[in-house]
Amino acid sequence: MISTFLTLPCGAILDNRLVKSAMTERISNNKFEPTKGHERLYRDWSKTGAGLLITGNVVLDRKHLESAGNVCFDDKKMLPKLKSWAEAGKKHGNHIWVQISHSGRQTNRFGTNRPLAPSEVQLRKLGLFGKPKAMTEQDILDVIQRFVTAAKLAKEAGFTGVQIHSAHGYLLSQFLSPNTNMRLDHWGGSIENRSRLLLMIIRDVRKAVGKDFPISVKLNSTDFQRGGFTENESLEVVKMLDREKIDLLEISGGTYEKLAFFIMNKEDSELKKSTKQREAYFIDFAKKIRTVSKIPLMITGGFRSYDFCKEVLTNGEVDLIGMARPFITNREEISKFLAGELPHLKNLVFRTGLKQFEDAAEGGFYARQIIRFSKGKELKTNMNPLWCSIFLILYEFKKAMAKKLF
Ligand SMILES: Cc1cc2nc3c(=O)[nH]c(=O)nc-3n(C[C@H](O)[C@H](O)[C@H](O)COP(=O)(O)O)c2cc1C
Repeated sequence: MISTFLTLPCGAILDNRLVKSAMTERISNNKFEPTKGHERLYRDWSKTGAGLLITGNVVLDRKHLESAGNVCFDDKKMLPKLKSWAEAGKKHGNHIWVQISHSGRQTNRFGTNRPLAPSEVQLRKLGLFGKPKAMTEQDILDVIQRFVTAAKLAKEAGFTGVQIHSAHGYLLSQFLSPNTNMRLDHWGGSIENRSRLLLMIIRDVRKAVGKDFPISVKLNSTDFQRGGFTENESLEVVKMLDREKIDLLEISGGTYEKLAFFIMNKEDSELKKSTKQREAYFIDFAKKIRTVSKIPLMITGGFRSYDFCKEVLTNGEVDLIGMARPFITNREEISKFLAGELPHLKNLVFRTGLKQFEDAAEGGFYARQIIRFSKGKELKTNMNPLWCSIFLILYEFKKAMAKKLF
């Protein structure tokens, strides 16, 4: 079943049901362009045989970065480099889609001290994020236009689809959440108003890329925060998305304040309740989605065993399996897994033992592996967790200095 093809509503065909979910690469050059490193990474990922590779988030404006190493899709001049990246990424006949994102208040200070956001609700984490400026109507219309420009560039460069990132606490997810969207105009308040920006972007991107080009949306099941975006609200958004021309809905969860998509914290009762004993954290939410939507559905987070993937595909809980970290730690084994010759992708759990450092250590560990792969190096498992946890901050600082971001 994992090896069965899937025809998307736009007519595009994915060769099988395994998808590499987005993982930020952090390796753009000083002009925010992709590098040979991107080509190498995706050429190698293409070799895994996964039907679809989704790139790490690319950004729309050079101030609103998730990483100082993001690629920014804002300039036709970089088309030759984008084309080489797309070419490498579909070398083995798979799809490669670009994940387009705006970081909003989750833009760190290396990008700007005054990020744009729906409202002036600051993200307080290690002093890394400035107080946001509430977006004007003009700012919002400008962001819509930037999503359209990025999607057009992606298509022109030969990428075979786009994903609009509306999860994990980035700008579109900030608009959806009542914790970060306090607006009193038609962009805030009711869930219909909070979804307006996402829907307008989808419609304008669809107009720009035409009816045959895949568009996906990545959405949170919930923010896992008191007063935040809930499962019920997420279902309301899915109902609205169901009326749009979308080819794939990917479900994840969490924000920078609660990295549920990344580390499933065993002590967290809310997470425990919603994940039960099944290995994929958001799978129980899939059933509810199926009752309100016909959009092809993918869940990402925690999938590691062949039988479980087969079970949820066979009984129709999901249409696609999203995986991220195994494409780093088990990169050489994915093709065997797809062929049903390997029952389990062994999780590599990386922990410092110090609660405050866990996110950073895990993030640093995976970031370092991606950077290694981009240089043609192999996986290195014996890394010092504490060093991994400070690596990211130092790496980002160095990248930001090289780009003269401050
Ligand atoms: C190093 C790393 C970078 C990530 N970057 C992104 C990203 O750019 N966009 C995104 O939507 N999710 C990102 N994620 C989250 C993954 O797409 C995925 O949701 C998460 O890792 C859970 O899936 P897994 O258990 O298969 O790893 C990232 C995860 C990792 C490990």
